[in-house]
Amino acid sequence: MPIPILKNQKILITGATSQVARPVVKTLSAENEVFGLARFREAEQRQEIEALGAHTLAVDLADGEMNEVPQDFDYVLHFAVVKTGDFEYDLKANAEGVGFLMSHCRGVKAFLHCSSAGVYHDETDEPLRETDPLGDNHRCMMPTYSICKIAAESVVRMSSRLWNIPSIIARFSVPYGDNGGWPWYHLMMMKAGVPIPVHTQGPCYYNLIHEDDYIGMLPALLANASVPATIMNWGGNTATSIEEWCSYLSELTGLEAQIAPTDGALKSLPIDTTRMIEKVGPTRTDWKDGIRRMVESRNPELLLSKNDQP
Ligand SMILES: NC(=O)c1ccc[n+]([C@@H]2O[C@H](COP(=O)([O-])OP(=O)(O)OC[C@H]3O[C@@H](n4cnc5c(N)ncnc54)[C@H](OP(=O)(O)O)[C@@H]3O)[C@@H](O)[C@H]2O)c1
Repeated sequence: MPIPILKNQKILITGATSQVARPVVKTLSAENEVFGLARFREAEQRQEIEALGAHTLAVDLADGEMNEVPQDFDYVLHFAVVKTGDFEYDLKANAEGVGFLMSHCRGVKAFLHCSSAGVYHDETDEPLRETDPLGDNHRCMMPTYSICKIAAESVVRMSSRLWNIPSIIARFSVPYGDNGGWPWYHLMMMKAGVPIPVHTQGPCYYNLIHEDDYIGMLPALLANASVPATIMNWGGNTATSIEEWCSYLSELTGLEAQIAPTDGALKSLPIDTTRMIEKVGPTRTDWKDGIRRMVESRNPELLLSKNDQP
């Protein structure tokens, strides 16, 4: 499929209020008819998404009830995820939910399912390739997450073939930007003087991907949707460790990062981005630049003056 131009398209974005999808809603609403789907348990969140220029759909994907959801979307970007720790509910919402969604929107030109590097088995230090073994690597932090993301991928694979829906399963590493992300949580822990857990087998590498990059890559990702579903890692070209980005946050702010090695933290999960770079292109944002912009945007009061930075 040629790279689509995302203008004047009807696009469904699930998980609209999420850290990751909210900037996507904002960007795409400028030139498309965007529908943001979430449960919207807080009315304020619904107003915030509407203020970005999107229509809203209050749907619990665990219910499988799609009556209120239009069917004539050009594209679906599926970012919703739930991680309550209750396997019964989380499997319904994450795995069955995406099946109901794909069944309902089976006429789309392409369906993007946002997955995670959380689906990989974590017993290697090598960058993880799309064909590598899967496993339950998030259990220590979010008990249902890895298994639900694997289950959801399986439903997407099956639905793509069953209903002939061009689909792409994009395995995200660590998204961040002006809307937050894991490095921002680390900054907040540094501010509060809270130790930052990292695995004892460090350094702990992940592929930071800035929101400018992941938003900019959406058309090329959609162009790679296929039947059967394409599977692709999605992250910064190269990996950076928690230890490195916390050290840089210290440089920027003067706050101490109390790195606390423990066997109870996520292991290093660098991804191999060869397929992404070849088919979609490289990321452009230098991670230090992205982290600095994140702090400037969210917590400018924490930045040392340039003269005080090393
Ligand atoms: N954040 C990361 O570091 C990271 C890393 C790798 C992959 N990802 C992937 O990126 C995507 C977004 O992650 P995130 O961390 O930004 O998510 P998040 O902040 O936890 O937000 C989850 C979103 O899903 C919606 N949602 C939850 N349960 C739902 C249900 N039952 N029915 C309908 N909507 C529901 C939530 O809205 P309501 O609560 O209003 O329903 C919210 O909009 C996910 O697919 C995630 O697996 C994220």
